[in-house]
Amino acid sequence: MEWKAAVLTVSDRSARGERPDEGGPLVRALLEQAGYAVVKTAVVPDEQDEIADVLRRWADEGSVQLLLTTGGTGFSPRDVTPEATLSVCTRLTPGIPEAMRAASMAVTNRAMLSRAAAGIRGRTLIVNLPGSPKAARENLEAVLPALGHGLEMLCGGPADCAALRD
Ligand code: MTE
Repeated sequence: MEWKAAVLTVSDRSARGERPDEGGPLVRALLEQAGYAVVKTAVVPDEQDEIADVLRRWADEGSVQLLLTTGGTGFSPRDVTPEATLSVCTRLTPGIPEAMRAASMAVTNRAMLSRAAAGIRGRTLIVNLPGSPKAARENLEAVLPALGHGLEMLCGGPADCAALRD
């Protein structure tokens, strides 16, 4: 019995093949260590519509309960992952980015520069992580232990949850 997850890397350079995607595989490995089955991965450029299209499609297929993005949460004009995320979520989960930034501030005061958002679309929880592997790891480790309980609530009850798991 395990939750199904997806990882979306948002990076112009990785999407163009100019830089290997390091954040996505790291996030995948952390999820798998925590017992999640990562069933979808992709790399998209920092284009709001493209990011939103993938998030919407993956959530609406109903095949993943957790959808993590990595990259595009900073202040550069091309950083639009939070806007794409907010555009597809119907309910926000501000405690998750609050917890990530609070934990990360103990590591670096630049943690406040992540605009990461999180929210719910249907039965899928979507959480933004920063792009660097170090930052993605630190942010994910801050919240991962609590996410399972959130997913159980999101799935509506033990019977529904069981149906969504393997
Ligand atoms: N959070 C942690 N835990 N560790 C970090 O090194 N880097 C910050 C911030 N969050 C960082 C962090 C920096 S420098 C930036 S610019 C933002 O995440 C956004 O990163 P992104 O544009 O790669 O998404």
